[in-house]
Amino acid sequence: MSTLITNIAELMTQDLEHRVLRDAAVVVEGERISWIGAASGAPAADEAVDAGGRAMLPGWVDSHSHLLFAGDRTAEFEARMAGEAYAAGGIAVTMNATRATSDFDLTRLAMGRVAEAVSQGTTYLETKTGYGLDVEHEARSARIASMVADQVTYLGAHLVPAGQDPEAYTDLVCGPMLAAVRPYVQWADVFCEEGAFTAEQSRRVLMACRDAGLGLRVHGNQLGEGPGVQLAVELRAASVDHVNYLAGQDVKALAASWSSWDPATGTGGRGTVATCLPACDLSTRQPLAPARELLDSGVQVALASNCNPGTSYTSSMAFCVTTAVLQMHLSVHEAVRAGTYGGALALHKDTGADAEGERAVGSIAVGHRADLHLIDAPSATHLAYRPGMPLTYAVWRAGIRKR
Ligand code: NIG
Repeated sequence: MSTLITNIAELMTQDLEHRVLRDAAVVVEGERISWIGAASGAPAADEAVDAGGRAMLPGWVDSHSHLLFAGDRTAEFEARMAGEAYAAGGIAVTMNATRATSDFDLTRLAMGRVAEAVSQGTTYLETKTGYGLDVEHEARSARIASMVADQVTYLGAHLVPAGQDPEAYTDLVCGPMLAAVRPYVQWADVFCEEGAFTAEQSRRVLMACRDAGLGLRVHGNQLGEGPGVQLAVELRAASVDHVNYLAGQDVKALAASWSSWDPATGTGGRGTVATCLPACDLSTRQPLAPARELLDSGVQVALASNCNPGTSYTSSMAFCVTTAVLQMHLSVHEAVRAGTYGGALALHKDTGADAEGERAVGSIAVGHRADLHLIDAPSATHLAYRPGMPLTYAVWRAGIRKR
């Protein structure tokens, strides 16, 4: 079955050549993109969809979310808006609510959140454990996450539960908890921050997880300058997320990690993606991550929602992209790229066009997965020009129309 989507006013491919085509068309065959080009030269297909002069971009790739949770933290949010600072301790509130929720309800809640994200144009999504924080509940979160998300990250090292010895808890995260989640996860993450895990504890967790075959990510430099970025780069983590407080040497280390990467071919040594989380920055009233400086320094940047009940209760990638334009001084093209190709880079899904399951996401190119987002506007600029407007018009995920 092939589908021709034609009459696309602007096709922002976010491919390696950064092409933006006018009056374009795309052909989808099964789950893959089989052709892109000028509408006037499009081949015939089994069915045709008229995009009506709208703009198309790749589906959002949300490379950082925490969707496995129950409960509510409105009171904490209100206190923060009244001037209180965010601290990691709120994680325990969600841990208690999550543990008290049945498998059925936790699954239903997570599925609902994924559906919300898809309806806003997200077509590829990572999510994390991290609100179970014991062997049984981390394994349960990982199992449910593996049924609802494209990739799952183990975040047993999110917070040391009250009353537990930090070193003993770190041993648990590196040992029995890791073994229990391992069948369901591809990545490991650690909250390397004052009030969460020290550099040494973080290193221990990351190395144990790397030995178990997991890729690495780090929550770092969110609440102050610290060792997170340096640790992530040293251990060749795929991403370091938050990055609100960066010293000059942190930016340099991130840039150096990409020194042998060729952005024109998407090959060479992969570095550590800096994942900026603007919705979280606003909700916690932290300084916005310096995305402009990072890009100007040669760092690969992703934007993600960080959807979670404590610091960023939104899965709207459009909101993040809009904020990156309006407040972080990215161009629309750069911000959309960070929310599509950047996320794919952070999840190692930017290449692959052969085997099923290996298809690249985050860019519109022949052979890539047909993850497409049609917005009800003639150009992607409208995402920032009309902030907050519900512009998602149609969404295809792996060639299947979701909206
Ligand atoms: O990414 N930084 C750590 N984890 C989450 C917050 C989790 C919470 O407060 O519930 C974040 O912001």
